Amino acid sequence: MVISVIGVGYLGAVHAAAMAELGHEVIGLDIDADRIAALQAGRAPFHEPGFEEILRRGLRSGRLRFTTDYAELEPAEVHFLGLGTPQRKDGFGADLSHLESAIDSLREVLAARGGAPTLVVGKSTVPAGTARRLSDQVEQVEGVQLLWNPEFLREGFAVQDTLEPDRLVYGLREPEGPQAEAVIAMLDAVYAALLAAGVPRLVMGYETAELVKASANAFLATKISFINAIAEMCEAVGGDVADVARAIGMDDRIGAKFLRAGVGFGGGCLPKDIRAFIASAEEHGVGESLGFLREVDLINERRRARTVELAGEMLGGVEGRRITVLGAAFKPDSDDVRDSPALDVADRLMQAGARVTVTDPQALANAAQRVPGLTVEAELAAALRGAELTLLLTEWREYRDLDPVWAADLVAVPRMLDGRTVLEPRRWAEAGWEFRSLGRADSSALQQPAASIPAVPALL
Ligand code: UGA
Repeated sequence: MVISVIGVGYLGAVHAAAMAELGHEVIGLDIDADRIAALQAGRAPFHEPGFEEILRRGLRSGRLRFTTDYAELEPAEVHFLGLGTPQRKDGFGADLSHLESAIDSLREVLAARGGAPTLVVGKSTVPAGTARRLSDQVEQVEGVQLLWNPEFLREGFAVQDTLEPDRLVYGLREPEGPQAEAVIAMLDAVYAALLAAGVPRLVMGYETAELVKASANAFLATKISFINAIAEMCEAVGGDVADVARAIGMDDRIGAKFLRAGVGFGGGCLPKDIRAFIASAEEHGVGESLGFLREVDLINERRRARTVELAGEMLGGVEGRRITVLGAAFKPDSDDVRDSPALDVADRLMQAGARVTVTDPQALANAAQRVPGLTVEAELAAALRGAELTLLLTEWREYRDLDPVWAADLVAVPRMLDGRTVLEPRRWAEAGWEFRSLGRADSSALQQPAASIPAVPALL
């Protein structure tokens, strides 16, 4: 099939390359000419494992290309909308202006189809009611139907999540009837390989599909803030949140994933999506029902403040002190620093007068751009050298596997604050480190050697 993907940011670029991988002819469009030039040259504009490979394979096959010109989209039978919906500058709601202007630009392209069946498929995360409103606009053009097909991919696993999703959600104006069948069949043809591999496909109304996406992210954010609230409690009473998470996660009604306590969630999705959900609930007169999401947001915010406070406690004041921050990306295997807890904490420490050096395997260029004046160092050993306090804030594998004996020789003072509860306190204490972790009692008492060291399981 001939497909277009409008908006080739994170979601759209991966989707475009993945659809070419499935055998479709794909044209990716963006108004950002630099981004289009990079993609067309086979260069990924962001770090995402496996993406550059499928991008280059698509380009080489001749099935994938990129453009800034809407007129080139005319042959497409299916147009995917992958535009960003960031938080509005004046409040919590989602800014839909990119989506709206894409629909405006698409109108002529749709009209040029002369009534041939054409599907517009929304993938962006939008407040409930958006799809119905947009469908009123695009379905004025004869032959055009709009379907909402939310995306659930995670950064760092984007290619895998697109080609092997847990489920496909189809949101339709009317989920039943002959017209629905035609629309469903068209998108089924796009996803034929995934459906044949057994990926479940759920058909529902527009609003339900929009709410599936908002609820999924709200639930994930709530799970993280829940364990972070327990982390606060653990700090207060002298418990260990990693053990709490491990033990409650063994109940499969709760599940072990997304129970890793620490400096909290960030990125381009969870924080802005829960806020947009709150704003949308308020608009629909049910603000109280989702009021708890404000608390989810506040708990998340408090973790950052607490990390800065704890750094101050450990150093007896941060002003003028040499601090090394391990991690700038909002999560490992990504170079995305949007609303990154690690970068935010580094910035706050810097604002408080600390001499901060940040290191990260992938995100330093983005970090330096976002926080002017930040000292960045790509090499781990060089970054650690001379530190009076080291903070682990993004759990890249190289930081999780860091050897405390090796690191102790580099730093000025072996003092570690684990902001992701991924290091083994006893191991670090035994190597002579003053060790603190969010959500765990002060472990200075752990310096007594232990007979056996229990492994901390990965909770992601
Ligand atoms: C999130 C969702 O997981 C995806 O399903 C969704 O499609 C995507 O948003 C989106 O709406 O586009 P992503 O932003 O890539 O994906 O990142 P997550 O893996 O959800 O992590 C978000 C944040 O939570 C990170 O800062 C991470 O470090 C933090 N986190 C995650 C924790 O603090 N604890 C955990 O146990 C898990």
